[in-house]
Amino acid sequence: MNHPRGTRRRFLQQVPLLAATPLLNAKLDSTAIPAARSGGPVVISTWRHGLSANEEAWKVLADGGNALDAAEAGVRITESDPEVRTVGLGGFPDRDGIVTLDAAIMDGSGDCGSVAALEDIMHPISVARRVMTETPHVMLVGAGARQFAVAQGFAPTELLTEASRRDYEKWLEEDGSYRPPINVENHDTIGLLTLDKDGNIAAACTTSGAAYKYHGRVGDSPIIGAGLYADNEVGAATATGWGEAVIRACGSFLVVELMRQGHDPTEACKLAVERVIAKNPDWKDIQVGFIALHKDGRTGGYCIHPDFDYAVYDGEGNRMVLPDSKVPRNE
Ligand code: GLY
Repeated sequence: MNHPRGTRRRFLQQVPLLAATPLLNAKLDSTAIPAARSGGPVVISTWRHGLSANEEAWKVLADGGNALDAAEAGVRITESDPEVRTVGLGGFPDRDGIVTLDAAIMDGSGDCGSVAALEDIMHPISVARRVMTETPHVMLVGAGARQFAVAQGFAPTELLTEASRRDYEKWLEEDGSYRPPINVENHDTIGLLTLDKDGNIAAACTTSGAAYKYHGRVGDSPIIGAGLYADNEVGAATATGWGEAVIRACGSFLVVELMRQGHDPTEACKLAVERVIAKNPDWKDIQVGFIALHKDGRTGGYCIHPDFDYAVYDGEGNRMVLPDSKVPRNE
């Protein structure tokens, strides 16, 4: 089995980390909504592609829309962007050359829906929402999820772009022995959390998962409690990185429960990363990051390796934040 350990270490040695990067201000105009000193609206999402997802989610909130609609609208932007190679259209395929998508959505009331190993549908997040609203179930997978999506009116679409096909063919030529390490180029799931003006919270998470994974592999993103969790009484969390490690720690649920116990969002993410580390002896060779949103509007994040960043949009605008990490920036 291919394993990310070696490639991850080599990547960390070769690629300059974001050590010297200050807090990056995206210089995007914020809509005139009062600053979120206490309460919403607030949007927070993983990685730099979160900036445009936040923009869309913020528009919904600025119009008086609810947290759930905002979360779905935000990540749909990322799903339809072929330049984002790890989410939706243009995502890296699995080892059989097939793009399979995982997504989940959760409302702070506890309602949730998800799809896993879904093929040919550009917006798995919207299918996940239909699972939540149109079925008595939480999760549909594989052929059943696709059948449901088509019955709901989602048009089948070829998700393997020329760029992803070329990379896949190169991977095959290299004997199928290389799998990109988990970093900004791989596993950069979009996880997005929202808090609306009425204090409702929602979470959405969507990804094409690990590049060249086994066909049928499901990561953390569609698993409620692992890839995301939302509770109006406390707040919400979402995860990015090596999904197997997040699943072992029930990562996002853990972050929310730690906030329930009184930890602030960053502290909760840090303690959850410590739990991931405790459950994954190969932790130095994988990336895992969490972001969290408290119901009072506070946000935070923490990760294993310092190549993870996240986007926050509140009354002060839309901007990138570089969280602290277990492995120091200069290591
Ligand atoms: N975190 C996304 C995945 O492992 O698929």
